[in-house]
Amino acid sequence: DSAFNKRMKPMKEFRHGKIPKITVVGAGQVGTAISAMLLLRNLTKYLVVLDVNYELAKAEALDFQHGSAFLGDPRIVPCGDGSHSKDSDLVIITAGARPAGKDRSSPGSHVQDLISNPADVMTYAVQRIGKLPKHRCFTTGCHLDSMRFRNFIAGRLRLPASQVQGFVIGEHGASAVPVWSTVSVGGIRLKDVVKDLACGEDPENWSEINEQVASGALSVGKVKGYTNWAIATTCTDIVDAMCGGRGKIASVGTDMRGFNGIKDNVVLSLPCLVKAGGISHVFELPLTDVEKKKLHASAEILLEAQCSLKL
Ligand code: 2OP
Repeated sequence: DSAFNKRMKPMKEFRHGKIPKITVVGAGQVGTAISAMLLLRNLTKYLVVLDVNYELAKAEALDFQHGSAFLGDPRIVPCGDGSHSKDSDLVIITAGARPAGKDRSSPGSHVQDLISNPADVMTYAVQRIGKLPKHRCFTTGCHLDSMRFRNFIAGRLRLPASQVQGFVIGEHGASAVPVWSTVSVGGIRLKDVVKDLACGEDPENWSEINEQVASGALSVGKVKGYTNWAIATTCTDIVDAMCGGRGKIASVGTDMRGFNGIKDNVVLSLPCLVKAGGISHVFELPLTDVEKKKLHASAEILLEAQCSLKL
């Protein structure tokens, strides 16, 4: 300590407030985008930037630190081996290989708030390897697909995406299930206004949005080589719901055995209430027969991928 610190005398009754300590594992495009948004939204005052490439973690942390006066003076610590992550309130792992396209089944790793791909399958693996309870180890999953779903619907109606509600469930990937029966715009159920909405005749061809959702990442990734901003906003939205304590209903993924007729331990997304301690409730949507069939098909695909893991 410098001579300056020696002149700072602690106040005996001072008690440290609870600083939500967050570790972001992976200092790549996704990890640094999430770290930046967490800092810019003041969602953490203690951020650990963890990457096996310690030099990269150090450089990213330093880059953030140089601007820390404008970020509320957070504590930003680089780490290469996890030694600084002890007692983190939240671990967000983004480390993993970039997905090749719509099919996200490339090797990767995910923990707690799951980002990289294959997010659902890795959530299953980490729940078992880490022996983590399913309400505390989950993936952002279809929260991102739901945001794209809402965005495409809003674009079609020339309305702000914030005015559109609706869920995508199942795999965060090619077999995701847009649930049109949950779509409401300004509180008005779209299916009450649009005849044969995304089914049967579907005269207005709303079902083309299903494909747009499925290829949302690919349409960006084929140009940039990755996606990072949408996942970063989605992830920080979940962190805000957890840290803000208010809670939020979002389509996130965990072991959904026993919900909507899912009979196996399979990780997929359904609407959940996410609060400070993780997932507090799962909402069983009243699905149409077609939606239920698609959800179970998605579950089958994920179950097969899960079974291929050598745990
Ligand atoms: C996304 O959907 C790649 O899973 C990531 O943007």
